[in-house]
Amino acid sequence: MLNALQLKENQGFPGVPKTGLFPLAEGLQVEAWGVLMNAIDLLKNDHQTVQHLFAEYIATDETETDRREDLFQQIEKELLAHTDVEEAIFYPAIKNVAPDLVEQAITEHQEVTQLLTEMLEYEVDDDEFDKRMNSLMETVQTHVQQEEGAGGVMEIGRQRLSGQLEEMGRQIQQRKDSADEELAA
Ligand SMILES: [Fe+2]
Repeated sequence: MLNALQLKENQGFPGVPKTGLFPLAEGLQVEAWGVLMNAIDLLKNDHQTVQHLFAEYIATDETETDRREDLFQQIEKELLAHTDVEEAIFYPAIKNVAPDLVEQAITEHQEVTQLLTEMLEYEVDDDEFDKRMNSLMETVQTHVQQEEGAGGVMEIGRQRLSGQLEEMGRQIQQRKDSADEELAA
C-alpha cells in the first residue's frame, strides 16, 4: 500500500489536485506529509483541543482518577505550549496595535499558569483540585471568547498580519515541535 506521500506523487488524492497544497476546509491547508496551518488557525485549534479535553474531563466520574490524571496532564501540556507560542510569537507581532488586549491576555495566561502550578500540589480527587479545575475552565473559556470574539486579538491579527500568518504558523509549529522533542529527549 502506498504511503500518503507516494500517493500524492503518483496519483493524488481522489477529487483533489495532484500537486501543491490543496484546501481541506476553509483556512486549512494540507500537504501529504503533514498539516500546514496559518498562525491564527493553529492557535484557534489549540483552543478547541483544550476545550475538548475539558469536555472529556467533565464527562468522567470522580472515581476515574487515573483517567482524570491523564486528562489533566494533557490539559496542562496543551495550555503551557499554547501560552508559550502566543507569548513568544503571536503577541509580539500585534503588541503595537493592541497593547491593552495583549496585556489582558498575558494576565489571563498568568492566572492559568498559577492555577496549573497549584493543581500539581493536590491529588485529582481532592476538593481543592476540583475547585481549581473549575476556575481553570472558566479562565480558559473567558480567554478563548476574548481572543476569538469580535475585536479580539484573532480578528486584529487577521486584519493586520495577513501575508505573515503562514510564516508565523510555521514558526509556531516549529517551536512546538522542538519543545516536544526536548520533552521526549
Ligand atoms: Fe489563546
